[in-house]
Amino acid sequence: MALLAHTPPTLMCHGMSLPPHFIGPILILDDLKSEQMHIAALVVARGTQVPKALLTEQGPVEFEKSISFAQFSVWRARFSVSANRPAYYVWNDTRYDLACDLGDDMRLAYVSCNGEEHGDMDRDPQERNVMWNRLVQQHRNAPFSLLIQGGDQIYADEVTDNHPLSVGWPLDVPQDCSEQELAALFDTLREGFAERYVALYAQPDFAYLAARVPSLMQWDDHDICDGWGSLPDQATKSGIGQTLFAAARETALIFQHGCTDGDLPARFCDPSGTDLSWHVETDSLRLLAPDLRSQRSMTEIMGPTGWQFMEEMASAPAPQRTFFISSVPLLGPRLSWIERAMRRIPGIQKYEDDLRDQWQSRTHRAAWCRMLRLVQKMAAPPQAQITAVSGEIHLATRGEMQLSNDKMLHQLVASGITHRPPPKVWARILGTLAAFGEDPLPESPITIRPLPGQRHRYTTERNALTLVRTDGKWAAQWLLEHSGPTPPLSL
Ligand SMILES: [Fe+2]
Repeated sequence: MALLAHTPPTLMCHGMSLPPHFIGPILILDDLKSEQMHIAALVVARGTQVPKALLTEQGPVEFEKSISFAQFSVWRARFSVSANRPAYYVWNDTRYDLACDLGDDMRLAYVSCNGEEHGDMDRDPQERNVMWNRLVQQHRNAPFSLLIQGGDQIYADEVTDNHPLSVGWPLDVPQDCSEQELAALFDTLREGFAERYVALYAQPDFAYLAARVPSLMQWDDHDICDGWGSLPDQATKSGIGQTLFAAARETALIFQHGCTDGDLPARFCDPSGTDLSWHVETDSLRLLAPDLRSQRSMTEIMGPTGWQFMEEMASAPAPQRTFFISSVPLLGPRLSWIERAMRRIPGIQKYEDDLRDQWQSRTHRAAWCRMLRLVQKMAAPPQAQITAVSGEIHLATRGEMQLSNDKMLHQLVASGITHRPPPKVWARILGTLAAFGEDPLPESPITIRPLPGQRHRYTTERNALTLVRTDGKWAAQWLLEHSGPTPPLSL
């Protein structure tokens, strides 16, 4: 444990100055069981400082799990609150209210893509965090019960620049590194990932929400590196690739899930964490998030553990509403034409891994159909409704797929919360392409549609999504950076 002998006045992470003592609490939903919300509270402490106990309605809870990094330690306290009435806790003389009544009317927030590939840490925080600020205002008006972070919680791409062995990633990957070299690389990368999480978790608007709304997160590629899993085996399976994945995974467990290997909370399908798929549910609501990265390869989106989990979910008794959180959109336009065209245009093959990341890639056609059939099965019971929620594309859009029993599968896409959109011309090309539709299951055509109140299929504004249940009925509303909240879409 490398602790600072003399604490400097301000901790710096990539030019961002951080609060002098503690960052947090950051709340993570461990599980929902027996009408209780089981919550992990994380606090990042500088140097040797130890956070005070967290005071809950049941009494004090000490922070006990400490994981050390060069300049800070991460502490965790686990506690439970009733899931059918509001609750609160007190930490460091501040009271934090939780809207944890999940029984009737409730509000969920969904975000994705919290960063950018290059220079994210050097952006003007005011400009960068404008949508986080909107979510804070929303929460103050009507609080959210849960915050779903659906992928790219950090953009770690530049972390590989921190070490000579990984600086050429993923194109120039040395293949003959010693164990010692890889151990040193691991330490550097682990610090790099952790610094990024801490810098983001210290942002005031994010921190405000994270202390009051438990998060549920599922990772996507940038939480590891751009295109992880869709890159050639020569990179992914090399010692350097595996070291990069190990550092990303360890820090994702700590910062996104409040745990380490060996103490994964019960919401995960695989206690070993080889696959990080999870689900939580109440009598009337299920949140289901397959892990589309841990087992991904050039030819597979998920491994046997992930598929087994999805098969079990499709056979389990279905609650009224399932939100299926697919980090990359489950419904999308026909991408095989672009993929084919790309093979013929020299110089743009580097975008191939972006396309291969998608369910709609022609390589993954069989897996896509398998997943759509599982979703159909989940929606088969008369009372069951299922909605897909995704991020990843830095645009807002929505899709529909008619299910066999007169129900509609809605696909809601909200991305990014801080990532800026691509040029409008790209969104229009995508929109034109999407007009042709797609029907991987011949009896269930997919249609991409504009958001309520928007003309074009793809909206080029930063955004977040709210999911609201009123009198038992769910509706979705996008918060758009320039256009404001959309009219609600009934689900
Ligand atoms: Fe992203």
